[in-house]
Amino acid sequence: MRTETQNHLYEKENTYALTLKVNGEEKKLLLKPWVSLLDGLRDHLNLTGTKKGCDHGQCGACTVICDGKRILSCLTLAVMKNGSEITTIEGIAREDDLHPIQQAFIDHDAFQCGYCTPGQICSAIGLIQEGKANSREEVKELMSGNLCRCGANVGIIDAIMQVKNGGSGE
Ligand code: FES
Ligand code: FES
Repeated sequence: MRTETQNHLYEKENTYALTLKVNGEEKKLLLKPWVSLLDGLRDHLNLTGTKKGCDHGQCGACTVICDGKRILSCLTLAVMKNGSEITTIEGIAREDDLHPIQQAFIDHDAFQCGYCTPGQICSAIGLIQEGKANSREEVKELMSGNLCRCGANVGIIDAIMQVKNGGSGE
């Protein structure tokens, strides 16, 4: 069993300093190497908009945008992203102006409880930036990692199609 001093040293030796640019602001963190980006955002930066659903890479609730790409923050160690630019749901709107995807979610009633919504919105923005999905079927396929237990999927796909089609809907 370790003594108190050994514990203290162990803690100190196993803590890493990292910097993340989160929603445009530089954030300095001291974290253990095993802390996920999700826990780093929620527990250390108090950005609780990103949700923890399964914590196992299966639901998409924790999706954030990292250096322009959507990633699952529960499967990403925060230390791996030292120096990266992270956008969470808190950084999507521009002051009072909603992002077009946020507005489209409202227009299409694309949420009920809202638990999956931050991840769906970040994923939808990442999907559009990827430019891979050109049809409704492709959008469905490439959004399939984001689950919605309330069954708002039809509205979610409608909302994404609206933005992809320049706001005109399908
Ligand atoms: Fe990350 Fe479910 S919480 S995929
Ligand atoms: Fe409830 Fe999607 S709106 S889980």
